[in-house]
Amino acid sequence: MKTSNFLGRDWIEPELDYSREEWKTLMDIGFELKRRFALGQDTTDILKSKTLFTMFFNQSLRTRSTFDAGIQQLGGIHSSLEPGKTYTPARKGFDIPYETERISDVARMLSRVGDAIAIRMYGPPSGWNYGFSDETIKEFAYYADCPIINMESDKYHPCQALADLMTIKEKFGSFKGKKLTMSFAYSGSIEKPRAVPQSVILASTLMGMDVTLAHPEGYDLDPTVIEKCKANAGQYDGSFKITNDFDEGFEGADIVYPKSWGSHTCFNYYDEETGKKIKDQDHDEARRVNELAKGWMTTQKQMDKVNKNGVYMHCLPADRGQEVTDEVIDGPQSVVIDEAENRLHAHKAIMALLMGGRL
Ligand code: CP
Repeated sequence: MKTSNFLGRDWIEPELDYSREEWKTLMDIGFELKRRFALGQDTTDILKSKTLFTMFFNQSLRTRSTFDAGIQQLGGIHSSLEPGKTYTPARKGFDIPYETERISDVARMLSRVGDAIAIRMYGPPSGWNYGFSDETIKEFAYYADCPIINMESDKYHPCQALADLMTIKEKFGSFKGKKLTMSFAYSGSIEKPRAVPQSVILASTLMGMDVTLAHPEGYDLDPTVIEKCKANAGQYDGSFKITNDFDEGFEGADIVYPKSWGSHTCFNYYDEETGKKIKDQDHDEARRVNELAKGWMTTQKQMDKVNKNGVYMHCLPADRGQEVTDEVIDGPQSVVIDEAENRLHAHKAIMALLMGGRL
């Protein structure tokens, strides 16, 4: 299998700059590594002695544990650079003496001594300035000589999307003709990123699925993401539609993915060209629309609307009793633990291909 076109590349917004064939190759490698893992085969020669640096600016269970286990299962080394124990990497203009260190120095230094840098940054460490974390991760990529991996930003969570596509492929065998609904779900927390829904609708339209985005008013996703989903649907012979009706999203779906995200009013917005602020976050409005969305909880009655063999997906962690009932998330239609398991194999595929693994 030809894998050399992956060597040294970044994985920052692959929903936009990796082809459909490249996503499929990553899935194939992920399944192969999952097979070898199940057989107990030794895979430590694949990335022997290669070093992965991780920086988590936010909490994590799945992403942290599976990158940590994954690099070691491939024979590599994991160095976790905990914010607070290192100088916080900062973009030009955001320096604080003896507290931060300019990203240009951090990225150049780490890429002299390691083989990839993986970063999670969204929401609070970006001051809820939408897209700030994406620009921060891209600044790492500009200065680093090694691949930069996005482990979740304000806009995208491509590692989650890859594991989710693997899970769908395992459950249904193919993507064509499958109806996926990415639905909003209620949560008591009004500040949440949009990364998972945006990456999932981009990746699933890239695979030519029939995708519905369901959300109450006030929860619109990034217009550039919506435009790209429409373009994907046209190019790959799938479909994409948006509804404000919770029930409509579930009717006849093969896959429902009800997940909370923040109202568009929970972010500050900046003009990407000039850097000038164009809109302040508005917590009163975010609370108002959230109150109106309390009915968007996934119950068994909702799940009874999906197709026979339909599945419930969630990236986890889930707000039980708000986004979903225990009955559903612990029930027979739920594949949430399969998704979490596939994070390991998806991450191993990403690292193996980008870091020059001997496959
Ligand atoms: N789904 C996901 O990214 O989980 P963590 O936040 O635990 O990494």
